[in-house]
Amino acid sequence: MLRRNRRLRTTQAIRNLVRETSIAPTDFIVPVFVVEGKGIKQEIPSMPDYYRYSLDLLRKEILELWVMGLTSVLVFVKVSEKLKDNKGTEALNAQGLMQRAIKTIKDVCPDMIVMTDVALDPYSKYGHDGIVEQGIIQNDDTNSVLSEMALSHAQAGADIVAPSDMMDGRILDIRSLLEQEGFHNTGIMSYSAKYASAFYGPFRDALQSAPVDLKNIPKDKKTYQMDPANRKEAIKETLMDIKEGADIVMVKPGLCYLDIVREISNAVDVPVAVYQVSGEYAMLKAAAQKGWLDHNAVMMEQLLSIKRAGAHMIASYFAKDAVTIL
Ligand code: PBG
Repeated sequence: MLRRNRRLRTTQAIRNLVRETSIAPTDFIVPVFVVEGKGIKQEIPSMPDYYRYSLDLLRKEILELWVMGLTSVLVFVKVSEKLKDNKGTEALNAQGLMQRAIKTIKDVCPDMIVMTDVALDPYSKYGHDGIVEQGIIQNDDTNSVLSEMALSHAQAGADIVAPSDMMDGRILDIRSLLEQEGFHNTGIMSYSAKYASAFYGPFRDALQSAPVDLKNIPKDKKTYQMDPANRKEAIKETLMDIKEGADIVMVKPGLCYLDIVREISNAVDVPVAVYQVSGEYAMLKAAAQKGWLDHNAVMMEQLLSIKRAGAHMIASYFAKDAVTIL
């Protein structure tokens, strides 16, 4: 034998030398869940070791992330039921929880990249990402609200708005309004290929944002989120979002969709983000709690695989755990 592939695997140092993929703290986007109140740090039942924070305790958490080298956050708010309606009116409140959260983060850590969730579901009494009329999610009316919502986040100081709704044409509408209002440097990270996935369950627990079980209200999000069976459609969605002005595109969920990540990363010239979602987090936490999987080893393998598939950045609930190991 002239060629022995095992030569390059003989020691850790050699393996490190020939490694093709690596993970750094700056690869991560940290999702943060915010609630009203004071002194609140609530564990999310279906997401062990993951918490909702009130704004006072969020300050400390943001500083902790920054010190660890985690430089971007994606903000989600849990809105009180009495503020919810069909049109997401509260989402546009300049003094709303999201807007105050953005200002709080920028106040404690001006350099932290603040990304914000733009979607109606946390504000919708029906738990949908769009306005519902006669059982149908209204695309264009929803886009008007999403654009106003994105503008409101930009005005509060968000660096990047992240529409997670999957309405058609919303990137163009949001970009146009931001340009018109002078927010030329506010970026858009589009959830471009977002699948109608059962892996979002724990997240909907975290925000109490699941679609409600009422007559004439769709029970799922399949008329706007994508069918997990489809591949070409993901490329189409992503290319359209880029044309409409997306700065960063996203594939979501992560692990089950790494074939899509690879294709999109080959096909586009903008950075690709992957969202390793709540159900992926919950699965590993549960198996590790039972002693069935080695938490840290499996976590790093999953994160590495997401990057190897072509992700430029990863939104992950494991960000702190991973950086602690790195
Ligand atoms: C909703 C939204 C969801 C997630 C992010 N934004 C859930 C959904 O579409 O129902 C899921 C994130 C996760 O599961 O970690 N706009």
